[in-house]
Amino acid sequence: MEHDLITEVRSKVDIVDVISSYLPLTQKGKNYFGVCPFHDDTNPSMSVSRELQIYRCFSCGASGNVYNFVMNYEHISFKEALALLANKAGIELKNFKITEKKQANEVFYKAYELAEKFYQNNLNSSLGKIARNYLKERSLGEDVIKEFGVGLALNGNTNVIDLLKNKGYDLKTLNEIGLANSDRDTYFNRIMFPLHDLEGRIVGFSGRIYDGSTNNKYLNTKETPIFKKGQLLYHYAMAREEVRTKKYVIVMEGFMDVIRASTIGVKNTIALMGTAMTDEQAKLIIRLSKDVILCFDGDEAGRHATMVNGEALLKLGLKPKVIALTGGDDPDTFILKKGKEHFLSLIESAIPFTDFKLKVLKEGVDLQSEEAIAGYINTVITETCKWDDEIRQEIVLKKLAKEFNLEYNTLEKRFQAIKEEQQKEKQHIAPKTYALPKKKRRDKYVIAMHSLLYYMLMSDKIVHKVDREGLFFPSEKERILASEISYYYKKYGIMKIADFYTYLNDKETLTNLLTEVLSLDLGTEVPSEEVDALFKVIKDYNVNLEAKRLEEKMKDEIDPLEKAKYAERIRELRMGS
Ligand code: GTP
Ligand code: MN
Repeated sequence: MEHDLITEVRSKVDIVDVISSYLPLTQKGKNYFGVCPFHDDTNPSMSVSRELQIYRCFSCGASGNVYNFVMNYEHISFKEALALLANKAGIELKNFKITEKKQANEVFYKAYELAEKFYQNNLNSSLGKIARNYLKERSLGEDVIKEFGVGLALNGNTNVIDLLKNKGYDLKTLNEIGLANSDRDTYFNRIMFPLHDLEGRIVGFSGRIYDGSTNNKYLNTKETPIFKKGQLLYHYAMAREEVRTKKYVIVMEGFMDVIRASTIGVKNTIALMGTAMTDEQAKLIIRLSKDVILCFDGDEAGRHATMVNGEALLKLGLKPKVIALTGGDDPDTFILKKGKEHFLSLIESAIPFTDFKLKVLKEGVDLQSEEAIAGYINTVITETCKWDDEIRQEIVLKKLAKEFNLEYNTLEKRFQAIKEEQQKEKQHIAPKTYALPKKKRRDKYVIAMHSLLYYMLMSDKIVHKVDREGLFFPSEKERILASEISYYYKKYGIMKIADFYTYLNDKETLTNLLTEVLSLDLGTEVPSEEVDALFKVIKDYNVNLEAKRLEEKMKDEIDPLEKAKYAERIRELRMGS
């Protein structure tokens, strides 16, 4: 029953469609190719097969069916992947059991939803007049207030506690999820902005002061089981669709910026919420889009954030762009002052991060000091060496030469030297992350086993032949996979590679082997002479192995009669094969 459901869902979604909703794929021949999201890469080393409904990365070896992809990509469990894909396929999951932990989390989400409604009501009540005025003054209309779920925590010690106690929550739970602090509400007298997780569920709040009562401008929910600040980004779930159509994402510092941008129809935005970008957040951003525009505040802190985060994205193989605001404006105030069209034109003219970086580098140089100038020139050359655009490299070097009245050749020489240095360094780290795995030298019998496994996957006739002749696979992994294939045919009648992946799910050695076998790409036809030849290679190998074993025994044997017996058995063995 469960198996039927899993198979049904899988067969109703197409792996090419699903994966291309996460990352761009290009068709080459009958397969599709894209940049593998499971390791640091910029080359399209992942192939997706519509025919087999599987993906595999030639570089890092990641592989599997659509479930594996979604699980690994979204960092979710199998059941969650099933639910997600069932939803895509339009299949309703009845009797769908979620794990206990999930159920506990549901209770938390529910509490947050209730709190959100409560805060929203407060804002609309007569007690919310000052807060409403504040929002009005900031030009936040009713539409945005609704869209972003803005609300109000009133004065009072136990407003939310009372509300949620009535709904069956105990104080301990409310403390655990950050809505209560000891026996008091966490939030009072603040404008409340709900924060959502990657799936768009409310998992926390940020509360802003609005009447100057304290100097902590924003108060965020503490880290809880469902709210991990470094693992989410403001507006992520909501931006997703829009990023898909616009094909780029804008990263801002604060959530007010995101909210403001939304009022002018720029909704492919997310915010870091004032902290440095964590590795996890960087990966999340890349998942949204490889085309990233950083639009941070136009002050020193914002410039610093642009440098640090741009560098981080650059290291991950992206080519981020930058909108460099000035004069202390943030996107919020800029849009308010200059309006929609002006901001849209800033997006249009966003500059490559690498240009921004050169500009910033230059600004720091003391042009009176020769040492500083030389240092600057070296840094610029080092930067340009990292680019893969030769024309741009030459332009920058020529400009430098002109600007500081130097020979182009001098700079060019320096460029080559640094480039060489960089390449050496790269080779040192390369094997871990970038290089394709070395083709392992394969023994003839291993190739034979793998080929035979491949044909077993293609045809049950071969499986029967293996069973009938009692063919023994001499190494364990292969032997187990063979028996799993055979068992799978017996149980389900036919072989669907993608479903077989699910069946093997938790046995990583086997799925890896399966992928390796499938990469042989021997086609779907099964040539019987070749299969016979493969049988022979494997049988010969077994015979040899057994003969060797007997020879060892024979050597150790002292009794001449026994020795003769061994010799006879070895002879028979060799004859038989
Ligand atoms: P407004 O002042 O309301 O316009 O907010 P802003 O978006 O301009 O905020 P700012 O640029 O000062 O800060 C950017 C982000 O940092 C905010 O969205 C918050 O998430 C975070 N932040 C700012 N101040 C505080 C604070 O006092 N406490 C906490 N925890 N976070 C803050
Ligand atoms: Mn602001």
